[in-house]
Amino acid sequence: MTDIVYLNGKFMPLEDARIPVLDRGFIFGDGVYEVVPVYSRRAFRLAEHLTRLQNSLDGIRLANPMSDAEWTRLVTEIIARNDDGGKNADQSIYFQITRGVAKRDHAFPKGVAPTVFMMSNPLTTPPPEQVEHGVAAITAADFRWLKCDVKSTSLLGNCLARQLAVDVGAVETIMFRDGNLTEASASNVFVVKNGVLLAPPKDNLVLPGITYDVVLEIARTREFEVEVRAISETETRNADEIWVTSSTKEVLAVTTLDGKPVGDGTPGPLFRRMHAIYQDFKRDVMRA
Ligand code: PDD
Repeated sequence: MTDIVYLNGKFMPLEDARIPVLDRGFIFGDGVYEVVPVYSRRAFRLAEHLTRLQNSLDGIRLANPMSDAEWTRLVTEIIARNDDGGKNADQSIYFQITRGVAKRDHAFPKGVAPTVFMMSNPLTTPPPEQVEHGVAAITAADFRWLKCDVKSTSLLGNCLARQLAVDVGAVETIMFRDGNLTEASASNVFVVKNGVLLAPPKDNLVLPGITYDVVLEIARTREFEVEVRAISETETRNADEIWVTSSTKEVLAVTTLDGKPVGDGTPGPLFRRMHAIYQDFKRDVMRA
C-alpha cells in the first residue's frame, strides 16, 4: 500500500511530497515535531501531545498554524488513509512544522507560511527477546543544547549519541550532564535502587516524554515507591535496575551499561511488574 502523507494542506502519496531546498527545516533544522502512537486506530493521548507541541512551538517562537481541533482532524484523517483495511491499525504518526521557505538568513523571515508535514509509519514495539532479556546501553556526556524540552527537528546531538550505541551493538546511549542523569538519545530513563523508582525531573534538560508520564502515573497508582529528583551518575552506575521509555520502546530494561551488568544483569522485579501493567494498560485503556 502507498503511504499517504500530508503536506501544506494536501494529502498525497509519499513519493509526490516535495519541499523547496530553502525550507528552514532543511537549511537550519528550524522546526519542531511530534510522534503520536496509534493503537487500534486511536491516537494515544493526543491532547497531551498537542500541548507538548504548543510548548515546543513557544520554545522556538513559531506560531501554531492550526487549532487543536484542526490537528485532531488531520491526525484522524491520516490514520484512516493509512489504515489499509484494518491491517495497519497500530501506527506512529509523525508531524513537523518548520519556519517555512526563505532566503538563507539566521534571523526569522517575516510573513512566511510555515511548512506542515505529517506521515504515518507502522508502530513497531520491541521484539520479545528484548523484553525478556533486556538491552545493552552505553553512556556519554550530554553534549546537546540547553533546550532539550523542545522537541526540535535539530536532532544532530541525539543522532550522534545514538550512533555511539549502534557502533558497539547497543540499543541506547544514556547521557549525563554536570554529574547527573538526563535521558537517552531517543528515550527517557528511570533508575531503581533499593526498591525505589527514581526519575529525573522534567526540566529543560530532558524531553518531557508522554510515556514517562504514563509510567509515573502507573507507578503512583500501583503504589510503587517513587522519587522524582536529580539522579547522579554514580547512582545510575550502581542502580539495581535501569529502564528506558518511549512511545515505541514502551518500557525496556537496560541490563548492561558500558558492558557491565546492571544489578544481576537480567530485567529486575520492578521492571517485570511495570511491563506487565503497561501491557494491560495498552489493552484496556489505549485500545479501549
Ligand atoms: N522520541 N527523550 C527523547 C530525546 C526522545 O526523542 C523521546 C521520543 C523521548 C520519549 O518521549 P515519548 O515517551 O513521548 O515517546 C524522550 C521519539 C519517539 C522520536 O524521536 O522518534
